[in-house]
Amino acid sequence: MFGSKGIIGLDIGSSYLKVVQLREVRSGFELELFDTLPVSPELIVEGSIIDAIRLTESLKELVRKAKIKAKDAVIGISGHSSVIIKRISLPEMTEEELSESIKFEAEQYVPFDIEDVNLDFQILGPKDEPGQMDVILVAVKKDVINDYVSVVREAGLNTVIVDVDAFALENMYGINYEIEPGRNVALVNIGASTMNMNILKGGVSMFTRDSSIGSNIHTDALQKEFNITYDEAERLKRGEAIEKVKPEDASSLIISASGEIFSEVSRSLDYFKSSTLQAEVDEVILSGGCGLIRDFPRLLAEKIGIQVKNAEPFRNIVIPKKFDMSFVEEIAPIAAVSVGLAMRRPGDR
Ligand SMILES: Nc1ncnc2c1ncn2[C@@H]1O[C@H](COP(=O)(O)OP(=O)(O)OP(=O)(O)O)[C@@H](O)[C@H]1O
Ligand SMILES: [Mg+2]
Repeated sequence: MFGSKGIIGLDIGSSYLKVVQLREVRSGFELELFDTLPVSPELIVEGSIIDAIRLTESLKELVRKAKIKAKDAVIGISGHSSVIIKRISLPEMTEEELSESIKFEAEQYVPFDIEDVNLDFQILGPKDEPGQMDVILVAVKKDVINDYVSVVREAGLNTVIVDVDAFALENMYGINYEIEPGRNVALVNIGASTMNMNILKGGVSMFTRDSSIGSNIHTDALQKEFNITYDEAERLKRGEAIEKVKPEDASSLIISASGEIFSEVSRSLDYFKSSTLQAEVDEVILSGGCGLIRDFPRLLAEKIGIQVKNAEPFRNIVIPKKFDMSFVEEIAPIAAVSVGLAMRRPGDR
């Protein structure tokens, strides 16, 4: 049914495309392909595709550059204007019963017209209260899905699963980390324009939240302050030197601009605390390009008073010798979502 050339995880970010392909081996997964490609910043805005034609071109370029042979892709959607994820409590019922009534049950939790979203759910099991069960409800806007699927199709690929970035992070965590019961771990992915948070308790998702904030804040501040181009600002963020700006001036501006992101992380953690009884987060696993900025993880940890570790999405994945290990290790946190996407197989849940 599916192409024999495998399935890629394709993370269509607003600033970087990321592709990962994993091969199932006896010990788990082996890395078959990993590559990235920068995209122009105005093609995707607030999670919506603004320029489908140029985005298609970029995807085609990635297919060429990464020598992608697979025809099937798993993609991820994120952003609070496209995806709603809620943990809700419902009277106990079977999966079949819930399938029939999900539309009705979801209506009060979804701020969009229920006809405009694709609904999905996962029953987590019985609650302490008798007769009740916990359910994760997922609603994704149909038009957003259609836009992404059609761009992917135009680039010659077939979308086999549309996942959600916050869940991809959870899957990435699941294969790479030991789950400790009772430990609360916040998976935090900060890209260019969106932050995804998924807080797990003993490996089970308790809380998710997407916010419209990311490292574009750094780019904007640098461009404004030093009157430089987008590309120059991007180079400064990667720690490269440019003629017009002293590196120490750039880094102090980056640090001060980070304040807004730190506050948003704090706010999201506060929401979690107020929405659950056992509230403390023990550890943050940070992914996304923003976490690659020098000192960002350390300063975030200071600000929120919780230990922050960079995500290691390839920790338990066999990496063959053909890969440039230093490159893979250096930018690994940027691959967190794409690794989680690449693990999915049609019909796996
Ligand atoms: N090596 C690096 N050092 C510093 N910053 C980097 C590095 N690589 C990427 N970034 C920054 O991280 C961001 C890209 O990260 P990521 O790929 O996670 O975002 P994205 O998925 O494209 O964005 P979003 O999910 O918000 O649409 C950009 O703002 C980029 O400037
Ligand atoms: Mg992203």
